[in-house]
Amino acid sequence: MKIFLDTADLAEIRRAAEANLIDGVTTNPSLVSKVAGERDPKEIYKEICEVVDGPVSAEVVGLDRETMVSEGRKLAALHDNIVVKVPLTEDGLKACRALVAEGIRTNVTLCFSVSQALLAAKAGGTFVSPFVGRIDDISGEGMQLVHQIRQVYDNYGYDTEILAASLRHPMHVVESMLIGADCATMPPKVLWQLAQHPLTDKGLDAFLEDWKKLGTTL
Ligand code: G3P
Repeated sequence: MKIFLDTADLAEIRRAAEANLIDGVTTNPSLVSKVAGERDPKEIYKEICEVVDGPVSAEVVGLDRETMVSEGRKLAALHDNIVVKVPLTEDGLKACRALVAEGIRTNVTLCFSVSQALLAAKAGGTFVSPFVGRIDDISGEGMQLVHQIRQVYDNYGYDTEILAASLRHPMHVVESMLIGADCATMPPKVLWQLAQHPLTDKGLDAFLEDWKKLGTTL
């Protein structure tokens, strides 16, 4: 399963890229607005693309098809790694189709139902992003949606990649793997939580205590 980092924070992206842990990055307007300050978001997208050799999702902010297509073209022109994120609306689906026809990769975002995911695939989306955590937030079963999309895409051979999104804790990532999501995007905090285990810490402490008895270094 591909791991994407869900952030526009370059320091965090560099930290994860250093060990080659991430296959790409996803952003959204809220994440960009958190880090941009006075900076042009397009410069931030370009910098992320220089750090990560993989898909970098950058979202359009227009609401109608024409504006989305025009913004999508501008975003795609920034760097080969850019994937244009469009919302799962009627206009978003039409923009998706138009961009794909021009050879531009897309991520159809804000997906909350399997019927929406079907249309994302029909529109030729490269990725579809079911928002697991936000469904959990309203007492739904977010992972169930990922499961259903996997089944439908497999039933009919759609090659749109399932990008499990809005993941809030390690078990969301584990369940995404078990279901067979193609990719999972997660905040930096969740990525590093994946590495943590109390027995690792305990075992390391014991090894180092024993090594001290030798009174030497390597
Ligand atoms: O990037 C989209 C998604 O992952 C947002 O997550 O936590 O804001 O629901 P969240």
